[in-house]
Amino acid sequence: MRVLASAPAKIILFGEHSVVYGKPAIAAAIDLRTYVQARFNDNGAIKIEARDIKTPGLTVSFSEDEIYFESDYGKAAEVLSYVRQAIELVRDEADRSRGVTVSITSQIPVGAGLGSSAAVAVATIGAVSKLLGLELSNEEIGRLGHRVELLVQGASSGIDPTVSAIGGFIHYEGGRFERLPFMELPVVVGYTGSSGSTKELVAMVRRTYEEMPEIVEPILTAMGKIVEKARDVLLSDIEDGVRFQKLGRLMNINHGLLDALGVSTKKLSELVYAARTAGALGAKITGAGGGGCMYALAPEKQSEVATAITIAGGTPMITKISREGLRIE
Ligand code: PMV
Repeated sequence: MRVLASAPAKIILFGEHSVVYGKPAIAAAIDLRTYVQARFNDNGAIKIEARDIKTPGLTVSFSEDEIYFESDYGKAAEVLSYVRQAIELVRDEADRSRGVTVSITSQIPVGAGLGSSAAVAVATIGAVSKLLGLELSNEEIGRLGHRVELLVQGASSGIDPTVSAIGGFIHYEGGRFERLPFMELPVVVGYTGSSGSTKELVAMVRRTYEEMPEIVEPILTAMGKIVEKARDVLLSDIEDGVRFQKLGRLMNINHGLLDALGVSTKKLSELVYAARTAGALGAKITGAGGGGCMYALAPEKQSEVATAITIAGGTPMITKISREGLRIE
């Protein structure tokens, strides 16, 4: 028996960094996916095969029988620690004696702030739980994905695994998740080709905050207000054209505030301005910054914006919001 599951990447639409200070954030699943196939093996071991795991500047292939514990491929190995933890968590719930082999392929670049670790954890939990006969809802799998993140990273809001498991749009505040109505958003993600360290960027913002709270606090407050405004826009019954204009303006303001906090880079800003010049209604960093990705809202201009991002030295991904989260294929 074999089970194939897939789970999507995410982008933070609004609210990265300010979410660390208790403000809300909105994230959405996008249709780049990680696929995990699970099957039994006869030797009782956990085996992980990973091909085409995209790390910046590196494509890693693991041989058929490679076992995680013996491999060390930097970022790719980091991804595999999520897989191993996910398999162990599910085996603990079901049957520790069964050997399980998983094979992973992924369209999601690693370390780009697109939630590749959460997607691989969620897809692994989905495939392995089905293989072992556990009936779990996507919400439950999202919660297990959060546990995997806590075990591997020590801290996590849970926003990435929740979005990846459930799909669509999620409004997050103080540990609570609210599903927002689904709608099409024509977005283009631009990858700078390098990755920032979320941990270091969060620490850097914290230092600035502690040094000059009277300046940083109003920035964070404004970011929180942008998220609330964006939530209203997503919930309101208005024409798509008007909605896109409003969201685009909010994206541009949010980007400016992230830049003020020091998390943008020359390359990120170049991609943001290239996208706007090519007709995007809004463009901003998504995720921690310091490299990683930006995204643009570009109704009827996705290919122009993608070309502009390429010319500016980035890798564009024309994508849309994924209604579906975890899926058994
Ligand atoms: O690096 P990403 O895309 O997972 O984004 C991190 C978002 C931050 O707000 C910067 C950190 C956090 O824990 O919420």
